[in-house]
Amino acid sequence: MAEQPDENQATELRNTAVDQLKEGGWITSPAIEAAMRKVPRHLAVPEASLEDAYSAYNAVITQEDEHGNHISSVSAPQIQAMQLEQADIGPGDNVLEIGTNGPNAAYLAELVGHTGQVTTVDIDPAPADRAKRFLTETGYTDVNVIVADAENGLAEHAPYDAIVVTVGAWDIPPAWIDQLKDDGRLVVPLRINGLTRTYAFIR
Ligand SMILES: C[S@@+](CC[C@H](N)C(=O)[O-])C[C@H]1O[C@@H](n2cnc3c(N)ncnc32)[C@H](O)[C@@H]1O
Repeated sequence: MAEQPDENQATELRNTAVDQLKEGGWITSPAIEAAMRKVPRHLAVPEASLEDAYSAYNAVITQEDEHGNHISSVSAPQIQAMQLEQADIGPGDNVLEIGTNGPNAAYLAELVGHTGQVTTVDIDPAPADRAKRFLTETGYTDVNVIVADAENGLAEHAPYDAIVVTVGAWDIPPAWIDQLKDDGRLVVPLRINGLTRTYAFIR
């Protein structure tokens, strides 16, 4: 039987990571702080140590291809906090996350509350399954988890107040803009001249 995680230690490590991100200026909004203090992200990565699950600045790699390239991960809390701050999400918002694994969708669900809607989509069924299991286990059952190539967004649940892209992109497909409401935000890590930076665009 798998060893059960020490929940007190998990809570302590989670709070330490959030404290570090506040000190580093990555978390400024109280709602994002509350969400990141609440979501038990270690349950999404039972194969990782609690220390790795709560490392503020490192991702947990969850999948590699046959050449050892990383093809899926739970993003580092620092990256997630930065993107959540950029997305400026509030209660009642309709949000699309592109690229899933669970923890970030749970943060989004906390931010939109019961009157909002979160849809998270992945091209690969394995991260989608991980997200589904995690979101069910942690009670975020209202999140829509979908397997699809989101290069053309996801028209099904549009229009969105925000689209948060959690996979690197070289370009912005027109569908991502078309599926935003007026004043909606697109947050996307763009590779420009070999450097990836996360940008926020307002429609
Ligand atoms: C960094 S991981 C997502 C992390 C997740 N947001 C979290 O909770 O931390 C990026 C994911 O994007 C997915 N992905 C890559 N290309 C995609 C596409 N065209 N459409 C949807 N998902 C895609 C990958 O399969 C991978 O699981």
